[in-house]
Amino acid sequence: MKTIRLGSTPLEVSRIAYGCMGIGGSWDRNDPLSVQIQYDAVQAIRAALDEGINFFDHADIYCWGKSEAAFAAIWSEVPRLREKIIVQSKCGIVMADQLYADSPENFDFSYEHIIRSVDDSLRRLQTDYLDVLLLHRPDPLIEPEEVARAFDELHASGKVRYFGVSNHTAAQMELLRKYLPQPIVANQLEVSLLHLHLIDEGIVFNQDHPPKVVRGEGTLEYCRLHNITVQAWGPLKSGAVITGVTEPPSQAAQDVAQIVAEMARAKGVSQEAIAIAWLLHHPAKMQPILGTTKPERIKAACEADRVELTRDEWYRLFIAGRGDRLP
Ligand SMILES: NC(=O)c1ccc[n+]([C@@H]2O[C@H](COP(=O)([O-])OP(=O)(O)OC[C@H]3O[C@@H](n4cnc5c(N)ncnc54)[C@H](OP(=O)(O)O)[C@@H]3O)[C@@H](O)[C@H]2O)c1
Repeated sequence: MKTIRLGSTPLEVSRIAYGCMGIGGSWDRNDPLSVQIQYDAVQAIRAALDEGINFFDHADIYCWGKSEAAFAAIWSEVPRLREKIIVQSKCGIVMADQLYADSPENFDFSYEHIIRSVDDSLRRLQTDYLDVLLLHRPDPLIEPEEVARAFDELHASGKVRYFGVSNHTAAQMELLRKYLPQPIVANQLEVSLLHLHLIDEGIVFNQDHPPKVVRGEGTLEYCRLHNITVQAWGPLKSGAVITGVTEPPSQAAQDVAQIVAEMARAKGVSQEAIAIAWLLHHPAKMQPILGTTKPERIKAACEADRVELTRDEWYRLFIAGRGDRLP
């Protein structure tokens, strides 16, 4: 697996990462972490390691913490693994009802929440440190000085090595950068052939057709300018890029799936490989975060590491995904 440098850090990370959201079983917090779920989680992580993936993405909330807990089983399965892999987690989303019986879902970038969330993640992951901590979704009540105080403490205590964000616009990153002594090393954003806003916005800018409201302009360019790795979550749009099945049905999804299948046949690789190679081809050096829990699909997606798309192929897929010709 080829590697990229993570943001401005010295870390060499696999250019495809594994997302652990699904390995904790269900999102029902009352469901226990069964032996079967634990076993399946280890099989998925092993499949990712076998493909050369050294980067694992988590969040405190995934399956109500069970995904992080399930991941911890890998330490006894693969000796001396901790220092060989990069473990990233996120904080900032508070699930409805998580703290008080009637509390709504909310985003919380307060000092107390960030510190408590990291301590809980470390306990569940059974590790002393996170390589990377991301702020999960922008909190409209953010006080960047508080975030800076929390990050300083986490960094000084050795609990977190590097910091980043997720789902943040250029302006939101700019605000944080004014207060943080640490660099923002990554921004995790939804990008796929069926979720093209970040790429398309640079093209639909100033156009009457299609009439679109685009906010967060220039997020990809901002990341490139400031050496912030773009991590692409949802890279297969929950499988729709392969199956063409969406609810409601979409012509773009069907067209993308058909072209992906044609190209996969022509190149003798999997469909997943074409969809992931399309992301890898982007000059922002995006790091797709795979979400499948199936070892065979992890292997299939990692074939992307040896797929090269031409400019024509990239554009053919892009135009199919946007569902409209270029302006
Ligand atoms: N920062 C954020 O806000 C955010 C949000 C969401 C996710 N994430 C991160 O990004 C990672 C990936 O996101 P994602 O899970 O949305 O990625 P994804 O790869 O687009 O979707 C994964 C889902 O699609 C299914 N799938 C994959 N290939 C398929 C196929 N060929 N046919 C049918 N179904 C297929 C998988 O089922 P199987 O498991 O059965 O294969 C799984 O349920 C997550 O694990 C998490 O780490 C971050």
